[in-house]
Amino acid sequence: MSKNRNTSPLFYVYWDNSKLNEKNIIKYINDFSYEENDIRKIEYPTNDLKLVYPKDNLYKLMKKRQSSRLYNDYQLNVKQLSSLFSCFTQVDNHRLLSSAGGKYPIEVYALCFNVKNFNNKIVYYNYSDNSLSIIGNCQDWDSLKSITGVGDAITGRPSIMFVFVGFPDRVVSKYGERGGRFLLIESGHYIQNLLLRITYEKLKAVELGGLFDDDIKNILGLKNTNAIITLGVICGK
Ligand SMILES: Cc1cc2nc3c(=O)[nH]c(=O)nc-3n(C[C@H](O)[C@H](O)[C@H](O)COP(=O)(O)O)c2cc1C
Repeated sequence: MSKNRNTSPLFYVYWDNSKLNEKNIIKYINDFSYEENDIRKIEYPTNDLKLVYPKDNLYKLMKKRQSSRLYNDYQLNVKQLSSLFSCFTQVDNHRLLSSAGGKYPIEVYALCFNVKNFNNKIVYYNYSDNSLSIIGNCQDWDSLKSITGVGDAITGRPSIMFVFVGFPDRVVSKYGERGGRFLLIESGHYIQNLLLRITYEKLKAVELGGLFDDDIKNILGLKNTNAIITLGVICGK
């Protein structure tokens, strides 16, 4: 057990208990609750102030974002690839993302299925100089689909799958158990930035919450590390 597994044991217990793999995925899906009206609107007995929607481009973009599960084997070009990764960069010594204590526990990897010059490559994004390192080869989407937890939900072949990897040691060493919360929240920041950029590029995407943790970790070469797989996003057209 690493030092941080000892100082923040509950985060790791929670994490290990929420892992998915080929053995427990069926139970996970069968246990989903599909109750109607799961979300109850909160009503306060007040005189409510009616607000107006903005008319700007940012709002128009946010309005267009939606999940898509149908892909047509489109090839991403380098300009599009650059646009997508720009969401996570650092410019003039400043990251586009906020981070608790500036610890930046999230790193971005991607499996390229149909990307010009990067077919079947695994890449890691270097935020400080806005570049991609090719760190290995990956199988095609059709071979990897079974460990992404999406079953038959996705039709066709997406161009790329982003994986948001957390390094808890960076935050729990400062914040203890609460650092685990920060890490997950920050992963969401990265993903929302990306989804808006994908919308701007007129591409499609959907988040993947069912990735098989250890299988994906192994593919990224992170097997003997404390890294955790937070979420995936597939993107294409
Ligand atoms: C954390 C998270 C995990 C998700 N996981 C999946 C998933 O595994 N498969 C899937 O088809 N959609 C997944 N989604 C997408 C949601 O189903 C989708 O966002 C929701 O139905 C609302 O639809 P919209 O994104 O089109 O507005 C996930 C979304 C989030 C935020």
